[in-house]
Amino acid sequence: MEIIHISAECYPVAKVGGLADVVGALPKYQQQNGDIAKVVIPCYKTRFLFENEFELVHQGGIWMGSQWRHFNVIKEKHNKLGFDLYLVDIPGLLDNEQVYGHHNDPERFLGFQIATLDWIRSWRHRPDVLHCHDHHAALIPFMITQCSSYARLEDIPTVLTIHNAQYQGQFGWDRWQWLPAFDWWKSGLLDWDHAINPLASAIKCSWRVTTVSPGYLDELMFSAAGLESLLQGEKQKCSGILNGIDTEVWNPADDEQLPKNYTTRNLAGGKKANKEALCSRFGLNPDLPLVSFIGRLVGEKGADLLPGIIGQADYETDHGISFLVLGSGDPYVAWQLEELKTYVRQPNYNVYIGYDEALSHCIYAGSDFLLMPSRVEPCGLNQLYALRYGTVPVVRMAGGLKDTVIDFGDEGGYGIRFMHPSVADACHALRRSVELFQQKSQLGELRRKMMKLDFSWKKSARQYADLYSSLK
Ligand code: ADP
Ligand code: GLC
Repeated sequence: MEIIHISAECYPVAKVGGLADVVGALPKYQQQNGDIAKVVIPCYKTRFLFENEFELVHQGGIWMGSQWRHFNVIKEKHNKLGFDLYLVDIPGLLDNEQVYGHHNDPERFLGFQIATLDWIRSWRHRPDVLHCHDHHAALIPFMITQCSSYARLEDIPTVLTIHNAQYQGQFGWDRWQWLPAFDWWKSGLLDWDHAINPLASAIKCSWRVTTVSPGYLDELMFSAAGLESLLQGEKQKCSGILNGIDTEVWNPADDEQLPKNYTTRNLAGGKKANKEALCSRFGLNPDLPLVSFIGRLVGEKGADLLPGIIGQADYETDHGISFLVLGSGDPYVAWQLEELKTYVRQPNYNVYIGYDEALSHCIYAGSDFLLMPSRVEPCGLNQLYALRYGTVPVVRMAGGLKDTVIDFGDEGGYGIRFMHPSVADACHALRRSVELFQQKSQLGELRRKMMKLDFSWKKSARQYADLYSSLK
Protein backbone atom coordinates (compact mmCIF):
# COMPACT_ATOMS: atom_id res chain seq x y z
CA MET A 1 0.00 0.00 0.00
CA GLU A 2 1.26 3.48 -0.86
CA ILE A 3 0.41 6.22 1.64
CA ILE A 4 1.13 9.90 1.02
CA HIS A 5 1.36 12.03 4.16
CA ILE A 6 0.75 15.71 3.48
CA SER A 7 1.71 18.01 6.32
CA ALA A 8 3.10 21.39 7.32
CA GLU A 9 5.77 19.89 9.60
CA CYS A 10 8.07 16.88 9.73
CA TYR A 11 10.87 16.18 12.22
CA PRO A 12 13.79 16.83 11.81
CA VAL A 13 13.19 18.99 8.72
CA ALA A 14 10.78 21.54 10.16
CA LYS A 15 9.39 21.29 13.69
CA VAL A 16 7.19 23.56 15.75
CA GLY A 17 5.50 20.92 17.88
CA GLY A 18 4.18 17.37 18.07
CA LEU A 19 2.81 17.36 14.50
CA ALA A 20 6.41 17.20 13.29
CA ASP A 21 7.24 14.33 15.63
CA VAL A 22 4.25 12.32 14.39
CA VAL A 23 4.88 12.93 10.68
CA GLY A 24 8.58 12.18 11.14
CA ALA A 25 7.90 8.86 12.86
CA LEU A 26 4.65 7.18 11.72
CA PRO A 27 5.80 6.83 8.05
CA LYS A 28 9.02 5.19 9.22
CA TYR A 29 7.04 2.52 11.04
CA GLN A 30 4.73 2.11 8.04
CA GLN A 31 7.75 1.48 5.84
CA GLN A 32 9.04 -1.06 8.35
CA ASN A 33 5.64 -2.79 8.13
CA GLY A 34 6.10 -3.23 4.38
CA ASP A 35 4.04 -0.26 3.14
CA ILE A 36 5.34 2.61 1.06
CA ALA A 37 4.98 5.84 3.01
CA LYS A 38 5.95 9.17 1.49
CA VAL A 39 5.93 12.57 3.16
CA VAL A 40 5.29 15.87 1.39
CA ILE A 41 5.85 19.19 3.17
CA PRO A 42 6.55 22.77 2.06
CA CYS A 43 10.16 23.59 1.26
CA TYR A 44 11.07 25.90 4.15
CA LYS A 45 14.58 27.25 4.07
CA THR A 46 15.67 25.35 7.19
CA ARG A 47 19.08 23.92 8.06
CA PHE A 48 18.00 20.47 6.94
CA LEU A 49 17.60 21.79 3.41
CA PHE A 50 21.12 23.14 3.25
CA GLU A 51 22.81 20.24 5.03
CA ASN A 52 21.35 17.43 2.90
CA GLU A 53 21.32 16.41 -0.73
CA PHE A 54 18.20 16.69 -2.84
CA GLU A 55 17.23 15.87 -6.42
CA LEU A 56 14.66 17.63 -8.54
CA VAL A 57 11.74 15.30 -9.31
CA HIS A 58 9.14 17.63 -10.79
CA GLN A 59 8.66 21.12 -12.13
CA GLY A 60 5.27 22.66 -12.70
CA GLY A 61 3.09 25.71 -12.43
CA ILE A 62 -0.20 26.58 -10.75
CA TRP A 63 -2.73 29.37 -11.00
CA MET A 64 -3.82 31.05 -7.79
CA GLY A 65 -6.48 33.52 -8.83
CA SER A 66 -4.91 35.53 -11.62
CA GLN A 67 -1.38 34.75 -10.48
CA TRP A 68 0.75 32.07 -12.12
CA ARG A 69 3.28 30.45 -9.84
CA HIS A 70 6.10 28.20 -10.80
CA PHE A 71 6.97 25.33 -8.43
CA ASN A 72 9.56 22.56 -7.95
CA VAL A 73 9.33 19.30 -6.06
CA ILE A 74 12.61 18.03 -4.66
CA LYS A 75 13.36 14.71 -2.97
CA GLU A 76 15.87 13.95 -0.25
CA LYS A 77 18.39 11.71 -2.01
CA HIS A 78 19.55 9.18 0.56
CA ASN A 79 16.38 8.11 2.37
CA LYS A 80 17.88 9.45 5.60
CA LEU A 81 14.59 9.54 7.46
CA GLY A 82 13.53 5.98 6.64
CA PHE A 83 10.94 7.15 4.09
CA ASP A 84 10.89 9.28 0.96
CA LEU A 85 10.72 12.96 1.81
CA TYR A 86 9.51 15.48 -0.80
CA LEU A 87 9.65 19.24 -0.45
CA VAL A 88 7.40 21.54 -2.48
CA ASP A 89 9.17 24.76 -3.34
CA ILE A 90 7.13 27.73 -4.60
CA PRO A 91 9.44 30.72 -5.11
CA GLY A 92 7.84 33.91 -3.86
CA LEU A 93 5.46 32.03 -1.58
CA LEU A 94 7.43 29.49 0.45
CA ASP A 95 10.74 31.29 0.77
CA ASN A 96 11.00 31.45 4.53
CA GLU A 97 12.63 29.49 7.30
CA GLN A 98 9.73 29.96 9.72
CA VAL A 99 6.87 27.49 9.41
CA TYR A 100 3.95 29.63 10.65
CA GLY A 101 3.14 33.21 11.51
CA HIS A 102 3.30 34.91 8.10
CA HIS A 103 0.59 37.36 7.07
CA ASN A 104 -0.14 35.19 4.01
CA ASP A 105 -0.25 31.77 5.69
CA PRO A 106 -3.62 30.81 4.10
CA GLU A 107 -2.21 31.55 0.64
CA ARG A 108 1.08 29.76 1.38
CA PHE A 109 -0.60 26.54 2.52
CA LEU A 110 -3.19 26.64 -0.25
CA GLY A 111 -0.41 27.04 -2.82
CA PHE A 112 1.38 24.10 -1.20
CA GLN A 113 -1.71 21.89 -1.47
CA ILE A 114 -2.48 22.82 -5.08
CA ALA A 115 1.12 22.22 -6.16
CA THR A 116 1.16 18.88 -4.32
CA LEU A 117 -1.97 17.73 -6.16
CA ASP A 118 -0.64 19.01 -9.46
CA TRP A 119 2.45 16.92 -8.99
CA ILE A 120 0.58 13.76 -7.83
CA ARG A 121 -1.74 14.12 -10.83
CA SER A 122 1.29 13.85 -13.11
CA TRP A 123 2.24 10.39 -11.78
CA ARG A 124 1.61 7.34 -13.94
CA HIS A 125 0.11 5.46 -11.00
CA ARG A 126 -2.22 6.55 -8.21
CA PRO A 127 -1.37 6.22 -4.52
CA ASP A 128 -3.70 4.22 -2.25
CA VAL A 129 -4.30 6.88 0.42
CA LEU A 130 -3.81 10.62 0.80
CA HIS A 131 -3.30 11.18 4.52
CA CYS A 132 -3.86 14.89 5.30
CA HIS A 133 -2.62 16.30 8.59
CA ASP A 134 -4.36 19.31 10.17
CA HIS A 135 -5.77 22.30 8.33
CA HIS A 136 -2.65 22.95 6.25
CA ALA A 137 -3.52 19.94 4.09
CA ALA A 138 -7.25 19.95 4.68
CA LEU A 139 -8.48 21.41 1.37
CA ILE A 140 -7.18 18.38 -0.51
CA PRO A 141 -10.27 16.17 0.04
CA PHE A 142 -12.46 18.97 -1.36
CA MET A 143 -10.16 19.71 -4.29
CA ILE A 144 -9.85 16.13 -5.51
CA THR A 145 -13.58 15.49 -5.31
CA GLN A 146 -14.94 18.87 -6.47
CA CYS A 147 -12.36 20.55 -8.72
CA SER A 148 -12.53 19.16 -12.26
CA SER A 149 -8.82 19.70 -12.82
CA TYR A 150 -8.08 16.95 -10.28
CA ALA A 151 -10.77 14.49 -11.48
CA ARG A 152 -8.04 11.91 -12.12
CA LEU A 153 -7.47 11.71 -8.35
CA GLU A 154 -11.14 11.73 -7.41
CA ASP A 155 -11.43 8.15 -6.08
CA ILE A 156 -8.31 8.11 -3.95
CA PRO A 157 -9.34 7.58 -0.32
CA THR A 158 -8.54 10.51 1.96
CA VAL A 159 -7.90 10.49 5.70
CA LEU A 160 -7.82 13.65 7.79
CA THR A 161 -5.97 13.52 11.09
CA ILE A 162 -6.93 16.29 13.48
CA HIS A 163 -3.94 17.07 15.66
CA ASN A 164 -5.53 20.20 17.01
CA ALA A 165 -9.02 21.48 16.21
CA GLN A 166 -8.33 24.92 17.68
CA TYR A 167 -6.48 25.81 14.47
CA GLN A 168 -8.79 25.62 11.46
CA GLY A 169 -7.08 27.82 8.85
CA GLN A 170 -10.17 29.94 8.00
CA PHE A 171 -10.02 32.68 5.41
CA GLY A 172 -12.62 34.95 3.85
CA TRP A 173 -14.84 34.14 0.90
CA ASP A 174 -13.35 37.16 -0.89
CA ARG A 175 -10.39 34.86 -1.63
CA TRP A 176 -12.35 31.95 -3.15
CA GLN A 177 -10.67 32.54 -6.52
CA TRP A 178 -7.40 31.26 -5.09
CA LEU A 179 -8.91 27.76 -5.32
CA PRO A 180 -8.98 25.79 -8.55
CA ALA A 181 -12.37 26.08 -10.35
CA PHE A 182 -15.29 24.25 -8.72
CA ASP A 183 -19.08 24.25 -9.09
CA TRP A 184 -20.38 27.15 -7.08
CA TRP A 185 -23.28 25.13 -5.70
CA LYS A 186 -20.68 22.92 -3.95
CA SER A 187 -19.39 25.88 -1.96
CA GLY A 188 -21.22 24.60 1.14
CA LEU A 189 -18.52 21.93 1.37
CA LEU A 190 -15.98 24.67 2.02
CA ASP A 191 -18.03 26.89 4.27
CA TRP A 192 -18.27 27.02 8.02
CA ASP A 193 -19.63 30.07 9.77
CA HIS A 194 -19.50 32.26 6.62
CA ALA A 195 -15.83 31.63 5.90
CA ILE A 196 -13.80 29.10 3.94
CA ASN A 197 -12.81 26.72 6.71
CA PRO A 198 -10.25 24.09 5.59
CA LEU A 199 -10.58 21.90 8.68
CA ALA A 200 -14.39 21.87 8.50
CA SER A 201 -14.19 21.16 4.78
CA ALA A 202 -12.00 18.09 5.34
CA ILE A 203 -14.33 16.81 8.06
CA LYS A 204 -17.09 17.00 5.45
CA CYS A 205 -15.16 15.71 2.42
CA SER A 206 -12.58 13.18 3.60
CA TRP A 207 -13.39 9.49 3.77
CA ARG A 208 -12.31 9.11 7.37
CA VAL A 209 -11.34 11.47 10.20
CA THR A 210 -9.02 10.53 13.03
CA THR A 211 -8.03 12.39 16.17
CA VAL A 212 -4.72 11.79 17.94
CA SER A 213 -6.31 10.15 20.98
CA PRO A 214 -9.70 8.59 21.73
CA GLY A 215 -10.17 10.93 24.71
CA TYR A 216 -9.77 14.00 22.49
CA LEU A 217 -12.43 12.71 20.10
CA ASP A 218 -14.87 12.45 23.03
CA GLU A 219 -14.02 16.02 24.07
CA LEU A 220 -14.47 17.38 20.54
CA MET A 221 -18.09 16.25 20.54
CA PHE A 222 -18.87 19.03 23.01
CA SER A 223 -15.89 21.39 22.70
CA ALA A 224 -14.29 21.83 19.28
CA ALA A 225 -13.84 25.57 18.77
CA GLY A 226 -17.16 25.84 16.93
CA LEU A 227 -17.03 22.52 15.04
CA GLU A 228 -18.94 20.43 17.62
CA SER A 229 -22.18 20.05 15.65
CA LEU A 230 -20.27 19.20 12.46
CA LEU A 231 -18.27 16.51 14.26
CA GLN A 232 -21.38 15.13 15.93
CA GLY A 233 -22.98 14.85 12.48
CA GLU A 234 -19.92 13.08 11.03
CA LYS A 235 -19.27 10.94 14.10
CA GLN A 236 -19.64 7.63 12.24
CA LYS A 237 -16.51 8.31 10.18
CA CYS A 238 -14.39 9.51 13.12
CA SER A 239 -12.07 7.45 15.29
CA GLY A 240 -9.37 8.19 17.85
CA ILE A 241 -5.92 6.64 17.33
CA LEU A 242 -3.38 7.40 20.01
CA ASN A 243 -0.03 8.81 18.84
CA GLY A 244 3.10 6.82 19.46
CA ILE A 245 6.67 8.00 19.93
CA ASP A 246 9.80 7.35 17.91
CA THR A 247 11.72 5.12 20.28
CA GLU A 248 14.87 5.48 18.18
CA VAL A 249 14.97 9.25 18.61
CA TRP A 250 13.75 9.16 22.22
CA ASN A 251 15.88 6.55 23.94
CA PRO A 252 17.79 7.35 27.15
CA ALA A 253 20.05 4.34 26.49
CA ASP A 254 21.73 5.96 23.48
CA ASP A 255 20.44 9.54 23.28
CA GLU A 256 23.47 11.54 22.15
CA GLN A 257 22.16 14.77 23.65
CA LEU A 258 22.42 13.44 27.22
CA PRO A 259 25.41 13.92 29.53
CA LYS A 260 24.92 10.28 30.61
CA ASN A 261 22.95 7.48 29.02
CA TYR A 262 20.95 5.10 31.18
CA THR A 263 18.58 2.17 31.18
CA THR A 264 16.47 0.60 33.94
CA ARG A 265 19.66 -1.13 35.11
CA ASN A 266 21.65 2.02 35.96
CA LEU A 267 18.59 4.19 36.44
CA ALA A 268 19.36 5.86 39.75
CA GLY A 269 22.94 6.79 38.79
CA GLY A 270 21.92 7.83 35.28
CA LYS A 271 19.10 10.11 36.40
CA LYS A 272 21.34 11.60 39.09
CA ALA A 273 24.12 12.45 36.64
CA ASN A 274 21.69 14.07 34.19
CA LYS A 275 20.00 16.01 36.97
CA GLU A 276 23.29 17.28 38.33
CA ALA A 277 24.41 18.46 34.89
CA LEU A 278 21.07 20.21 34.28
CA CYS A 279 21.01 21.83 37.72
CA SER A 280 24.57 23.01 37.37
CA ARG A 281 23.78 24.61 33.99
CA PHE A 282 20.72 26.43 35.40
CA GLY A 283 22.00 27.17 38.91
CA LEU A 284 19.46 24.90 40.64
CA ASN A 285 19.84 22.82 43.78
CA PRO A 286 20.04 19.13 42.73
CA ASP A 287 18.88 17.90 46.16
CA LEU A 288 15.38 19.26 45.66
CA PRO A 289 12.72 17.62 43.51
CA LEU A 290 12.97 19.19 40.06
CA VAL A 291 9.70 19.93 38.26
CA SER A 292 9.95 21.01 34.61
CA PHE A 293 7.67 22.35 31.93
CA ILE A 294 8.46 22.12 28.22
CA GLY A 295 6.16 23.55 25.62
CA ARG A 296 4.50 26.31 23.73
CA LEU A 297 3.62 29.19 26.06
CA VAL A 298 -0.05 29.32 25.13
CA GLY A 299 -3.36 29.09 26.98
CA GLU A 300 -4.07 25.57 25.71
CA LYS A 301 -0.97 24.32 27.53
CA GLY A 302 -1.95 26.20 30.70
CA ALA A 303 1.30 28.20 30.40
CA ASP A 304 -0.38 31.28 31.90
CA LEU A 305 -0.86 29.25 35.11
CA LEU A 306 2.87 28.68 35.53
CA PRO A 307 3.76 32.01 37.18
CA GLY A 308 1.04 31.41 39.79
CA ILE A 309 2.05 27.79 40.36
CA ILE A 310 5.74 28.59 40.65
CA GLY A 311 5.12 31.72 42.72
CA GLN A 312 2.97 29.85 45.26
CA ALA A 313 5.22 26.84 45.75
CA ASP A 314 6.61 26.25 49.21
CA TYR A 315 10.32 27.14 49.10
CA GLU A 316 11.12 27.72 52.72
CA THR A 317 10.46 24.37 54.37
CA ASP A 318 12.26 21.06 54.03
CA HIS A 319 9.65 20.18 51.45
CA GLY A 320 11.25 22.55 48.98
CA ILE A 321 10.86 22.19 45.27
CA SER A 322 12.57 23.61 42.20
CA PHE A 323 11.29 24.50 38.75
CA LEU A 324 12.72 24.75 35.27
CA VAL A 325 10.74 26.06 32.30
CA LEU A 326 11.63 25.71 28.60
CA GLY A 327 9.22 27.38 26.24
CA SER A 328 8.37 30.04 23.74
CA GLY A 329 5.15 31.69 22.67
CA ASP A 330 3.01 34.36 24.35
CA PRO A 331 5.40 37.28 25.07
CA TYR A 332 3.46 38.35 28.17
CA VAL A 333 3.76 34.90 29.76
CA ALA A 334 7.44 34.80 28.75
CA TRP A 335 7.99 38.19 30.40
CA GLN A 336 6.21 37.04 33.60
CA LEU A 337 8.34 33.91 33.73
CA GLU A 338 11.52 35.96 33.34
CA GLU A 339 10.36 38.42 36.03
CA LEU A 340 9.71 35.56 38.44
CA LYS A 341 13.44 35.05 38.70
CA THR A 342 13.64 38.20 40.81
CA TYR A 343 10.96 36.96 43.23
CA VAL A 344 11.76 33.28 43.60
CA ARG A 345 14.90 32.32 45.45
CA GLN A 346 17.56 31.60 42.83
CA PRO A 347 18.52 28.00 43.52
CA ASN A 348 14.85 27.14 43.09
CA TYR A 349 13.84 28.40 39.67
CA ASN A 350 15.08 29.15 36.21
CA VAL A 351 13.60 29.62 32.76
CA TYR A 352 14.88 29.36 29.21
CA ILE A 353 12.73 31.27 26.75
CA GLY A 354 13.23 29.87 23.27
CA TYR A 355 13.21 26.65 21.34
CA ASP A 356 16.01 24.16 21.96
CA GLU A 357 15.59 20.55 20.90
CA ALA A 358 18.80 19.30 22.56
CA LEU A 359 17.95 20.98 25.84
CA SER A 360 14.49 19.39 25.80
CA HIS A 361 16.13 15.94 25.81
CA CYS A 362 18.33 16.92 28.77
CA ILE A 363 15.27 18.18 30.67
CA TYR A 364 13.25 15.00 30.08
CA ALA A 365 16.23 13.04 31.41
CA GLY A 366 17.34 15.30 34.25
CA SER A 367 13.97 16.19 35.83
CA ASP A 368 12.06 14.30 38.48
CA PHE A 369 8.63 15.50 37.35
CA LEU A 370 7.19 16.98 34.16
CA LEU A 371 4.26 19.32 34.71
CA MET A 372 1.52 19.61 32.05
CA PRO A 373 -1.36 21.80 33.27
CA SER A 374 -2.99 21.71 29.80
CA ARG A 375 -6.49 23.03 29.24
CA VAL A 376 -6.60 21.20 25.90
CA GLU A 377 -4.28 18.35 24.95
CA PRO A 378 -5.25 16.39 21.83
CA CYS A 379 -2.59 13.78 22.59
CA GLY A 380 0.54 15.29 24.07
CA LEU A 381 3.91 13.71 23.40
CA ASN A 382 5.81 15.33 26.27
CA GLN A 383 4.31 13.01 28.87
CA LEU A 384 5.26 10.01 26.70
CA TYR A 385 8.85 11.23 26.41
CA ALA A 386 8.90 11.84 30.17
CA LEU A 387 7.74 8.27 30.83
CA ARG A 388 10.42 6.88 28.55
CA TYR A 389 13.07 8.86 30.46
CA GLY A 390 11.77 7.77 33.89
CA THR A 391 10.35 11.21 34.75
CA VAL A 392 6.96 11.27 36.46
CA PRO A 393 4.35 13.18 34.41
CA VAL A 394 2.09 15.45 36.48
CA VAL A 395 -0.83 16.11 34.17
CA ARG A 396 -4.20 17.74 34.07
CA MET A 397 -6.83 15.22 32.97
CA ALA A 398 -7.37 16.42 29.40
CA GLY A 399 -7.65 14.52 26.09
CA GLY A 400 -4.63 12.35 25.45
CA LEU A 401 -3.18 12.98 28.92
CA LYS A 402 -6.16 11.16 30.42
CA ASP A 403 -5.61 8.31 27.96
CA THR A 404 -1.91 7.84 28.68
CA VAL A 405 -1.27 8.69 32.34
CA ILE A 406 -2.75 6.60 35.16
CA ASP A 407 -2.37 8.07 38.65
CA PHE A 408 0.09 6.14 40.84
CA GLY A 409 -2.60 6.00 43.52
CA ASP A 410 -4.75 3.85 41.22
CA GLU A 411 -4.18 0.24 40.25
CA GLY A 412 -1.37 -0.11 37.72
CA GLY A 413 -0.67 3.62 37.90
CA TYR A 414 2.59 5.52 37.47
CA GLY A 415 1.93 9.26 37.07
CA ILE A 416 0.10 12.06 38.89
CA ARG A 417 -3.19 13.46 37.61
CA PHE A 418 -5.24 16.46 38.60
CA MET A 419 -8.70 17.55 37.60
CA HIS A 420 -8.87 21.27 36.87
CA PRO A 421 -6.51 23.59 34.99
CA SER A 422 -6.05 25.79 38.05
CA VAL A 423 -3.17 26.92 40.24
CA ALA A 424 -4.80 25.26 43.27
CA ASP A 425 -5.17 21.84 41.65
CA ALA A 426 -1.68 21.94 40.15
CA CYS A 427 -0.14 22.93 43.52
CA HIS A 428 -1.97 20.08 45.21
CA ALA A 429 -0.55 17.69 42.62
CA LEU A 430 2.92 19.12 43.23
CA ARG A 431 2.61 18.56 46.96
CA ARG A 432 1.91 14.92 46.13
CA SER A 433 5.01 14.99 43.91
CA VAL A 434 7.18 16.23 46.78
CA GLU A 435 5.84 13.47 49.04
CA LEU A 436 6.56 10.89 46.36
CA PHE A 437 10.08 12.28 45.92
CA GLN A 438 10.76 11.53 49.58
CA GLN A 439 9.69 7.88 49.16
CA LYS A 440 12.88 6.95 47.33
CA SER A 441 12.21 3.24 46.85
CA GLN A 442 8.62 3.80 45.65
CA LEU A 443 9.84 6.46 43.23
CA GLY A 444 12.57 4.16 41.94
CA GLU A 445 10.04 1.40 41.31
CA LEU A 446 7.68 3.77 39.52
CA ARG A 447 10.49 5.01 37.33
CA ARG A 448 11.41 1.50 36.27
CA LYS A 449 7.76 0.78 35.54
CA MET A 450 7.39 3.94 33.43
CA MET A 451 10.48 3.20 31.38
CA LYS A 452 9.17 -0.24 30.53
CA LEU A 453 5.85 1.04 29.17
CA ASP A 454 5.47 0.68 25.42
CA PHE A 455 4.16 3.81 23.72
CA SER A 456 6.01 3.12 20.48
CA TRP A 457 4.25 3.46 17.13
CA LYS A 458 3.90 -0.31 16.71
CA LYS A 459 0.33 -0.53 17.96
CA SER A 460 -0.92 2.76 16.53
CA ALA A 461 0.66 2.13 13.11
CA ARG A 462 -1.31 -1.12 13.00
CA GLN A 463 -4.51 0.79 13.77
CA TYR A 464 -3.82 3.16 10.87
CA ALA A 465 -3.11 0.16 8.62
CA ASP A 466 -6.50 -1.35 9.53
CA LEU A 467 -8.18 1.98 8.85
CA TYR A 468 -6.56 2.30 5.39
CA SER A 469 -7.49 -1.31 4.56
CA SER A 470 -11.12 -0.63 5.39
CA LEU A 471 -11.12 2.08 2.69
CA LYS A 472 -10.13 -0.21 -0.18
P1 ADP B 1 2.20 20.49 20.75
O1 ADP B 1 2.38 19.84 19.44
O2 ADP B 1 0.78 20.87 21.02
O3 ADP B 1 3.12 21.64 20.98
P2 ADP B 1 3.14 17.95 21.86
O4 ADP B 1 3.23 17.48 23.29
O5 ADP B 1 2.45 17.05 20.93
O6 ADP B 1 2.54 19.42 21.89
O7 ADP B 1 4.61 18.09 21.26
C1 ADP B 1 5.48 19.11 21.60
C2 ADP B 1 6.85 18.77 21.01
O8 ADP B 1 7.58 19.96 20.88
C3 ADP B 1 7.67 17.86 21.89
O9 ADP B 1 8.59 17.15 21.07
C4 ADP B 1 8.41 18.85 22.81
O10 ADP B 1 9.57 18.31 23.38
C5 ADP B 1 8.71 19.92 21.78
N1 ADP B 1 8.88 21.29 22.33
C6 ADP B 1 7.90 22.16 22.67
N2 ADP B 1 8.41 23.34 23.05
C7 ADP B 1 9.76 23.20 22.95
C8 ADP B 1 10.86 24.10 23.18
N3 ADP B 1 10.68 25.34 23.62
N4 ADP B 1 12.10 23.62 22.93
C9 ADP B 1 12.30 22.36 22.50
N5 ADP B 1 11.31 21.49 22.27
C10 ADP B 1 10.05 21.90 22.48
C1 GLC C 1 -0.95 18.88 18.36
C2 GLC C 1 -1.51 18.72 19.76
C3 GLC C 1 -0.73 17.76 20.61
C4 GLC C 1 -0.41 16.49 19.84
C5 GLC C 1 0.31 16.86 18.57
C6 GLC C 1 0.70 15.65 17.72
O1 GLC C 1 0.03 19.84 18.27
O2 GLC C 1 -1.63 19.97 20.41
O3 GLC C 1 -1.48 17.42 21.78
O4 GLC C 1 0.38 15.62 20.62
O5 GLC C 1 -0.51 17.67 17.78
O6 GLC C 1 -0.43 14.92 17.32
